[in-house]
Amino acid sequence: TKSHLIAPSVLAADFAKLYDDIIMVNKSEADWFHIDIMDGVFVPNISFGFPVMQAIAKHATKPLDVHLMIVDPDRYLQVCKDSGADIITVHYEACTHLHRTLAAIKELGCKAGVALNPHTPVALLKDVLADLDLVCLMSVNPGFGGQKFIPNTYAKVQELRAMAQGVNDGLLIEIDGGVTTANAAQLLKAGADVLVAGSFVFNAADPLETVKTLKDIDIA
Ligand code: DX5
Ligand code: ZN
Repeated sequence: TKSHLIAPSVLAADFAKLYDDIIMVNKSEADWFHIDIMDGVFVPNISFGFPVMQAIAKHATKPLDVHLMIVDPDRYLQVCKDSGADIITVHYEACTHLHRTLAAIKELGCKAGVALNPHTPVALLKDVLADLDLVCLMSVNPGFGGQKFIPNTYAKVQELRAMAQGVNDGLLIEIDGGVTTANAAQLLKAGADVLVAGSFVFNAADPLETVKTLKDIDIA
């Protein structure tokens, strides 16, 4: 069976010892670094910006999966790419000309993703589905780590997987927010490919073992 990807969210790292936490992810069985960029406008919080991402990129040995929680992301696609992004995900709710934004991301040579807030139906992606490398389904309201998982996400994963069948069979479905071992297996069964985990990994007594536990989930 197809194996899934794990993307620890650096938002939950200890920023005063960020280097150590990057090395931990490098050594772990994680597949990607998930990088949460917030502007205090699209979401009610500010995380960190591109200078910090550049510092992460210098030491990370795995792809950077960048989640832009910002308004009008077109302004920052070039700097995002130049700061080390491999995958750039923008929010559906923040893009007036989503098709153009996705084309611009691909033009830069990055993989293109769209994130949906919990209230945004997956059906709205129908006309861009073939153009997407990844869809990030938010399973919390974006802005903060450590929130409670919203169970409606399971149905959204199933619906999106069915929509993608025959249209974009390589589409990666990513789940972001409140992911733990309490919901990971059910998300994978529903059709998810990438699990983002912030606090569950970085607040664990043994982060390496926690990543391994998520990676080893076998739904076969
Ligand atoms: C939320 C961010 C998430 C967050 C996940 O706005 O997009 O990536 O870091 O953190 P946890 O896993 O703690 O919910
Ligand atoms: Zn995120």
